[in-house]
Amino acid sequence: MQRIFGWVVSGAVVISLFGVAYAQFAKPEQAIAYRRATMTLIGDHFGRIGAVVKGDKQYDPKETEQNATLLATLATLPWDAFTIADTDKGETHMKPEVLKDKEAFRKAADDMQMETAKLAEAADKGELAAVKSQFGATAKSCKACHDRYRSH
Ligand code: HEC
Repeated sequence: MQRIFGWVVSGAVVISLFGVAYAQFAKPEQAIAYRRATMTLIGDHFGRIGAVVKGDKQYDPKETEQNATLLATLATLPWDAFTIADTDKGETHMKPEVLKDKEAFRKAADDMQMETAKLAEAADKGELAAVKSQFGATAKSCKACHDRYRSH
């Protein structure tokens, strides 16, 4: 738990530093690149936990805890980079609805952040059954947003 707290605190520091960076996206392409890079990392660390959940990879509690903690931190990062004008055009799969529907988009992001925090908690306890069920709940929160706001 101590570790998770440490990560959450360092996550908060990262957010406050990046809060400055958000305001400094000089061009829409930079916001798109930032959020896509973060989403790629989210997909990667989520996928590593998924391999354990599916039984393709042996459960290593420490490794899963590290992936889940990283995921929970990454899940706090990209959202401001989505709700920026003109970032629905260019090299992106974001639907324009995000810009019309910022509050609902934020709500979907908050749901996912909450699910990833619970996943990190389950992984911290080292209980594979709890990790499995919370992995499913987290995947639902990804899908809920993708179905609505991602174009493929
Ligand atoms: C609140 C909305 C939202 C949530 C929640 C969300 N995503 Fe996404 N995701 C998006 C949008 C929108 C894009 C398209 C971004 C773009 O192209 O600019 C995206 C893109 C991606 C990509 C493609 C990255 C790239 O550009 O190659 C991956 C991988 C991904 N998400 C994984 C996940 C996973 C895994 C979760 C859950 C753990 C998740 N996402 C949760 C909205 C969301």
